[in-house]
Amino acid sequence: MEQLKVGLGQRSYPIWIGDDILDNLGRALKEVDFPRKVAVVTNPTVGGLYAERVLEALAKEGFHAETVTVPDGEQFKNLETLETIYDGLIENGLDRFSGLVALGGGVVGDMAGFAAATYLRGIPFAQVPTTLLSQVDSSVGGKTAVNHPLGKNLIGAFYQPRHVHIDVATLTTLPHREFAAGMAEVVKYGIIRDRSFFDWLGSHRSELQRLDRTALIEAVKRSCQIKANVVEVDENESYLRAILNFGHTFGHAVETLAGYGQIKHGEAVAIGMVVAAVGASTLDLCTSGEVDSIRELLASFGLPVEPPSFSLEDYLNAMGRDKKVKEGVLRLVLNRGIGDCLLRDIAEPAGFFASVLNTLPMGR
Ligand code: NAD
Ligand code: GLY
Repeated sequence: MEQLKVGLGQRSYPIWIGDDILDNLGRALKEVDFPRKVAVVTNPTVGGLYAERVLEALAKEGFHAETVTVPDGEQFKNLETLETIYDGLIENGLDRFSGLVALGGGVVGDMAGFAAATYLRGIPFAQVPTTLLSQVDSSVGGKTAVNHPLGKNLIGAFYQPRHVHIDVATLTTLPHREFAAGMAEVVKYGIIRDRSFFDWLGSHRSELQRLDRTALIEAVKRSCQIKANVVEVDENESYLRAILNFGHTFGHAVETLAGYGQIKHGEAVAIGMVVAAVGASTLDLCTSGEVDSIRELLASFGLPVEPPSFSLEDYLNAMGRDKKVKEGVLRLVLNRGIGDCLLRDIAEPAGFFASVLNTLPMGR
């Protein structure tokens, strides 16, 4: 098993990463002095697979745990479901000396994290992420939120967990498309921060595709380490943390235009990263050979790499509504070669994206 730490002073916390380590959850929580009365928030899909083991792991170390089940799906990541979590916590008698465990993917993790941040003005919580995306991204760094009818993740808080428990064995039950979507975020870390990791992903793609546990642990560990390093420097996204949004501005536009649910977040980010890389090459920040390497690695994990054929105007309108637009200027994350990146204000997005999209085949 591997251990990392997110260093945030008194709010620092460990990340455990291993194969078949769900049964150690109670021990891990004891080490961080987690409250003994616990609610495990999960959904029927993940709960049906893993809740019993988690409850046993907790009981054998003296924790008293109940489950609170929420419906499965992004469409339920809202205030109404949040209220049902509060109902469950109150009905189970959770007080200020209780804790919450999020068992599931990013939807459960974000929602349960926000419930923990706000219930009785904040109770400790732990993340047990079970999708690749949540293992390498959403469970680390303390962003918690629910959606509002007018936009994604508009209601939330920065609230760090006390512990993150990553069992890569849970990925064996994950649908392949969800696994590929998570790989987009893994590749992202290599592009923005670590050339050797990017190369390692290229040389270990077949091991990763067949869920070789050693390769999975390495990929998750290196991803979490990069994210932890960024969050340690800029927890509240004043500047540096924005680099984690590489590929996300165009990606969000793809998600919006295609209709939420048609294209997965990681798939849209893969397309957005190719667009960003082509944009970087038009500004001489990287070579066309590097763009090809990025495209080829993403495609090899089964990810789409061509933007759907919406008009430039549609894309610009959708990007204009992005949280990252400030006073009409679009701030983009652009890769510098592979393994480094920078933030660049694009004063004339229309001209910039026209030239980028002109050089790209449009898919779907
Ligand atoms: P998800 O939570 O919807 O999970 C995808 C599907 O896989 C669901 O149906 C889920 O029930 C199922 N599932 C989960 N684990 C499984 C397993 N081991 N076996 C079988 N099925 C399993 O989706 P996601 O991609 O994990 O998360 C997406 C969410 O994460 C979005 O709401 C996004 O906004 C959020 N997010 C948050 C952050 C952050 O920093 N907080 C970062 C990225 C994304
Ligand atoms: N997923 C981006 C972040 O946590 O900042």
